[in-house]
Amino acid sequence: MGSHPVANQVANAVYICICNGVTDHDIRQAAAAGCKSMPELTMRTGAGGNCGSCLEMATEVLDKARGMRLAIPSGTAVRFEPGQTREVTLVALGGKREVYGFRQEVMGKL
Ligand code: FES
Repeated sequence: MGSHPVANQVANAVYICICNGVTDHDIRQAAAAGCKSMPELTMRTGAGGNCGSCLEMATEVLDKARGMRLAIPSGTAVRFEPGQTREVTLVALGGKREVYGFRQEVMGKL
């Protein structure tokens, strides 16, 4: 019998920012909540706010979170109110991995 996928994510988390105890899971969770840039990630999690040695790795994890979607049934949603946090699971987009978004932040291949 398998364990819960979110529990597996937390158990397998890797510390990206040692100064602030921020894991890759924390970064993906911030991305799922709408975080799109390193300055925003620093404000939300503290990652990169001290020595800065984690900036490159944190940016890479944040960038890789693009092209992911919430693992929720089609036609449903997860609502985030300001200041609210939730546990969510992300899965990689399939198909051609091309995205054309309303904000035009990604317009083509991921
Ligand atoms: S390791 Fe992230 S600020 Fe120092």
